[in-house]
Amino acid sequence: MLELALKVLLAYLLGSMMGGLLLRPVVGGADIRREGSGNAGATNALRTRGKGFAAAVAVVDVLKGVAAVTLVPWLPLPGVEAGAVAGEWLMALCGVAVVFGHIWPIWHGFRGGKGAATLVGVMVVVAPVALLPILGVWVLVLVLSGYVGLATVLAAAMGPVYALATGHAVESMLFTFTLAMFLTVVYTHRGNLTRLVRGEEHRFDRVMVLRR
Ligand code: G3P
Repeated sequence: MLELALKVLLAYLLGSMMGGLLLRPVVGGADIRREGSGNAGATNALRTRGKGFAAAVAVVDVLKGVAAVTLVPWLPLPGVEAGAVAGEWLMALCGVAVVFGHIWPIWHGFRGGKGAATLVGVMVVVAPVALLPILGVWVLVLVLSGYVGLATVLAAAMGPVYALATGHAVESMLFTFTLAMFLTVVYTHRGNLTRLVRGEEHRFDRVMVLRR
C-alpha cells in the first residue's frame, strides 16, 4: 500500500505541473487564469494567447499524462515492497492522480485546468484504441457546434460507452476508470454547461467548417 500511496502522490505532483502556467515566461508572464474562461489549459491558452502557445501547453499537458502511466507505476522505490496492487489498477490510479493534479495543482493554488489534455495522454497508454471514438466525437461535436467544452464532455462520455461496447465488465479497470473520468470532466465543465444553457458559452466560430 505504501507503494500505491507514493506513486499516486508522484503522479499527482506531476499533474500539478501545468503547461499553461510553467510556460508563462513565453507570454510575458501572463496568468491565463485571469482571462477568458479562467481555465489554465490549452483551450484557454488558444483563446487568450493564440495557436503557438496553445500547442505548447497541450504538448506539456498530454505528455505528463503519458509519463504518469508509463513511468510512475514502474518506478523502483528503494525499501518499498512492490506489487501489492495489480499493474493495470496502479496505472489507472496514477492516471486519476495525474488528471486530479492538473485540475487541482498543488504548485499553483489548486486552480488548474479541466483535465482533458492530460486525460488524452493517459488514454494514449491505457486504451489507445478507445481514443478513436473519443477523438472522433470530439472533432465532430466541435466542428458542428464550435463549443470545445461541449465537445469534451460528450467525447469523455464515449470512454465508458466504448468500454461496455467492447465487452469490458462494469467492474473492469477500463470501465471504472473511464466512468470516473467522465464524471470528473462533467464536474470540471459545470461552468461551461451552465453557460451553454444560458447561451453565454464562448464559441470558436472558425472551427465550424461544416457550417460554411
Ligand atoms: O479542456 C477544456 C475545454 O473543454 C474547455 O475549456 O477554456 O472553454 O473552459 P474552456
